[in-house]
Amino acid sequence: MQKRYFLHATALAVLALSATYSIAQNNNFKIGLILPMTGQQASTGRQIEAAAKLYMAQNGDTVAGRKVELIVKDDTSIPDVTKRIAQELVVNDKVNVLAGFGITPSALATAPIATQSKTPQVVMAAATSSITLASPYIVRTSFTLPQASVALADWAPKNGIKTVVTLVSDYGPGIDAEKFFKERLLFNGGQVPESLRVPLRNPDFAPFLQKVRDLKPDALFVFVPSGAGAAVMKQFLERGMDKAGIKLIGTGDVTDDDQLNGMGDGALGVVTSHHYSAAHPSAVNKKFVEAFQKANPGMRPNFMAMGGYDGMRVIYEALRATKGKGNGDELLAAMKGQIFESPRGPMFIDAQTRDVVQNIYLRKVEKKDGQLYNIEFDVIKDVKDPGKK
Ligand code: DHB
Repeated sequence: MQKRYFLHATALAVLALSATYSIAQNNNFKIGLILPMTGQQASTGRQIEAAAKLYMAQNGDTVAGRKVELIVKDDTSIPDVTKRIAQELVVNDKVNVLAGFGITPSALATAPIATQSKTPQVVMAAATSSITLASPYIVRTSFTLPQASVALADWAPKNGIKTVVTLVSDYGPGIDAEKFFKERLLFNGGQVPESLRVPLRNPDFAPFLQKVRDLKPDALFVFVPSGAGAAVMKQFLERGMDKAGIKLIGTGDVTDDDQLNGMGDGALGVVTSHHYSAAHPSAVNKKFVEAFQKANPGMRPNFMAMGGYDGMRVIYEALRATKGKGNGDELLAAMKGQIFESPRGPMFIDAQTRDVVQNIYLRKVEKKDGQLYNIEFDVIKDVKDPGKK
């Protein structure tokens, strides 16, 4: 008797559970946020998750009558893992949008799944130019390396920097940075005597920096992904490169706001070009930084947080525009052409390329209120990705 009762009760419980499950599946608007929460790129995951949660706290978790559910998954920045998680999120969880993607290989590994399942894929971090070509369902809210690099190659020769050695992480964004910086510098009459590439995983910068020291260029141009900048800065200073008269320049990834304040006064004066600085002097950004720091004590938002925050906005507005009923294609259509003031400045999702058009700022590391910041001193407005033909 007891056994039968037990079986009966279990069956009922299972029924009740699956009923709740299917209600949740039918009603919630699900965003699968795939991020590197552990491993070498963990700061990217931490920043984007914090920003996405802040956006939801500020804007509510119900949009056009749909409850928004954020499903955060750690891909440890291994592309095979990203792909498997994306597949599970689409097939089992029936997510409406895939988002996140800390590094280029993770974004590329997911692209076929977005295409096959007609699921919008919002790339919040990865920044190789070609990513948006990998699927018509990809929309990008981060930046591209060509976008950031060209401005610096225009600035350098006008500021006494004629010979530059490039040093980049040896994968998509690094190769983009090297190519676009070099081409533009040569066009502007500068010289690139050597282009060095370091492995993405566990890089040792020492032998490369020694080589740069021997070459004695006016400057060293660096691209490394978010989280690796502090190690470059430390070894650059330890080797006395600055004292040898070699300037450090790069895209803003190297003076990442997540790490900058810990780099010490040796970082003062480093000039970079990028789309976001926590010190961007606008009312919208001041409000964003204050709210971010209140919700995440001890953390300063960086450009990754910015990609996550604006990515959530693009998703929310698409959900609103489709009145909570949009399928993948309708959501995608509503993401294209969005234009708004981000904490980074004005931004726009180009309807043709699905890529971000935004201001690129030249910045110099300076001290403000006793802390190190990237202080903007010039702006190139509405820059499209130069990597697109
Ligand atoms: C990529 C990753 C980064 O951390 C970054 O700062 C820029 C680009 C990437 O893999 O695309």
